[in-house]
Amino acid sequence: MSGSIGKSFDRIDVRSKVTGEAKYTSDLTYPGQLHMKALFAERPHARILSIDTSGAEALDDVVAVLTAKDVPVNEYGYIQPDQPVLCGPDSNNPYGDRVRFVGDQVAVVIAETEEAAEKGCKAIEVEYEDLPVVGTIEEALKPDSFVLHPPMESNVMSTSRIITGDVDKAFAEADIIVEGEYRTPAQEHAYLEPEAGVSYIDEEGRITLEVAGQWAHKDRMAVAHALNLPEDQIRVIYPYIGGAFGGREDNSVQIILALAAYKLKERGIERPVKIRWTREESIKGHGKRHPFIIRAKWGAKRDGTVVAAESELISDGGAYACTTAIVSKVAILNVTGPYDVPNVRINCTDVYTNNVPRAAFRGFGGPQGAFAAEMQMNKLAEALGMDPVEIRFHNLIKDGSLQVVGAPWPPGVTAREVVEACAGAGGWKKEDGFWKRTGTPDEERDPSIKRGLGFACSHKNIGFSHGFRENAAMTLELHGGSTIEKAVLRHTATEVGQGTHTAIGQMLADALDIPFDRVEIKRPDTSRSGDTGSVSASRMTFMAGNAIRETADLAIGKWKEEERPVIVAHKHLGLPTTGDDPETGHCDPMISYAYTAEAVEVQVDTVTGQVTISNLVCATDVGRAINPLQVDAQVEGALVQAAGYALLENFVEQDGYVKTPDFSTYLIPTVLDIPEKNKNIILEIPDPRGPWGATGVGEMPFLAMAPAVAAAVYDATGVWIDKFPLTPEVVLDGLEEAEA
Ligand code: MOS
Repeated sequence: MSGSIGKSFDRIDVRSKVTGEAKYTSDLTYPGQLHMKALFAERPHARILSIDTSGAEALDDVVAVLTAKDVPVNEYGYIQPDQPVLCGPDSNNPYGDRVRFVGDQVAVVIAETEEAAEKGCKAIEVEYEDLPVVGTIEEALKPDSFVLHPPMESNVMSTSRIITGDVDKAFAEADIIVEGEYRTPAQEHAYLEPEAGVSYIDEEGRITLEVAGQWAHKDRMAVAHALNLPEDQIRVIYPYIGGAFGGREDNSVQIILALAAYKLKERGIERPVKIRWTREESIKGHGKRHPFIIRAKWGAKRDGTVVAAESELISDGGAYACTTAIVSKVAILNVTGPYDVPNVRINCTDVYTNNVPRAAFRGFGGPQGAFAAEMQMNKLAEALGMDPVEIRFHNLIKDGSLQVVGAPWPPGVTAREVVEACAGAGGWKKEDGFWKRTGTPDEERDPSIKRGLGFACSHKNIGFSHGFRENAAMTLELHGGSTIEKAVLRHTATEVGQGTHTAIGQMLADALDIPFDRVEIKRPDTSRSGDTGSVSASRMTFMAGNAIRETADLAIGKWKEEERPVIVAHKHLGLPTTGDDPETGHCDPMISYAYTAEAVEVQVDTVTGQVTISNLVCATDVGRAINPLQVDAQVEGALVQAAGYALLENFVEQDGYVKTPDFSTYLIPTVLDIPEKNKNIILEIPDPRGPWGATGVGEMPFLAMAPAVAAAVYDATGVWIDKFPLTPEVVLDGLEEAEA
């Protein structure tokens, strides 16, 4: 009867999505609903001297105008609450009168119509005193740089490090040293659905939000903090959500929506309030992937064995801390790659700038670290005259290897298996015990078109961990008589379009040994379930799956004792991990990692600088494909998004102003940019800690793309370009510089 796992069932939400029945946040409309608009500062750094809302309040159809002084606790933030909910004078946030990026908000207007709310925003008079703009990492680190967040004394937001072994001694004994300085870009999530939501007071008097996020209980916590209310007076419901990719880990409209419902109720008005950001507001208002500058120096033996790695990383954290410090902790776990490196010295500094805040984004610091690691490994191969796949086998980790932070890699290391699978299908073969290319790419008839092949591999952690005890709570109901006729799962795992509710349903069906059509997977609602945790860090299949196994076992026990219906609320605890030692960075940071490798063939037009991916092979070990079609979709989506990151997506900020605030200036891949040929190899080597052997997939295939493309461009042209996106301008500049 079981056997749902491993089948490519249609997504449980597919019918409602294709028919248009599914209600996304911006589709929600309730009787009597009011509309809200936020007044964006539209300037990167300023002190607000005064706000005059009287013009807005005098307008017909304007119901309320709220400013900083209306926010009970005027602060929020993922790691530390360094961001005002609304910027302006007279709030309880001592520096809350400052705006620090263009998307900071000064007031909200609630009105009968969206147009009236917009008119109200325009009628608000704000007096600003501009402050010096810190637009780049370099400016942020100048000793006399204007400090964004007093009472801090500099713009250093956070730091992290790893020190292992004796780096200086190892460099002295190395046969060869390779150095590089790499720059990775910002990236916009470009999800289909801009931020939106509705708030109202529910039948039990709770402030209720229907909004798009990635972790409902975390949203609830942030709202409760800012409103100074107990968490159980806040309820967060997630309707259908049009994409996230990490960009919804930080709050957007959550707190102002809740504030609106709260303040209106105080004034005796109980009407739902809706807000939806325009695309421009979304691009200016939500965080971007962190740009990094990474300087790396690696030393190796003549046979290709890496003996020492030194890296200095600096990230542009933007105006507020958000998730930056933990993004950097992932970056430094990736900056030495999936390799056995015994001597390591890594320092990372995150700085505040007046740019749009930086955020979680698919890979969460991993892609930035991986770019430097894989560029270094490919340059090392070249310097030693070795094949890039062959050199990796002199360094790839295996079960029992130690991480650079001292602890063993979690069991189930499959870095070698993915590299082997990818290389074998991507243009390499093993001959007489050595990996070598099967040939060189065919030459183009047009001599200005050069072809090249590049390789990279990577790993990605599952879960945040780093001392945070991963957990997942859920409530399972079993209904029926002699057999289980229906199983209802209440949880808060967020469906952002990746298919998690379908995968959860398949795992639940097998855990209970019932057909898939007897499970009912509810949508997240904090008033109906415990906290299943964040949909991020590729953790949900792993964590929810392990939680389902335990919860189903408990429920079956009660079922056998003839309880009808069975209701079990249970919280699964992940394995403990440890946080980093402040001096050495040593820790046992993660429960598990998953592994990926990519071989990319490109065509470089040396006249126009255009790079086209002509063939792409990716191998990813997912442990167990719960729903193979969905796994394929995750891999393909990650690869296309990563191809955009590597080649196309160019988020431009100048002195704190966003120069690419829409999709005609910020280009993302379309169907025409999909690689001509693509083969995805899904390995299913069971993760000993994963449910049914499953591990994560959402982020992994993203990580190796940019360095594989850069290596292919090198193979085609003989030029290393150490930054991306590899737009035609960047490529032509690189080729010209090399000629000069
Ligand atoms: Mo993700 S980038 O961990 O939401």
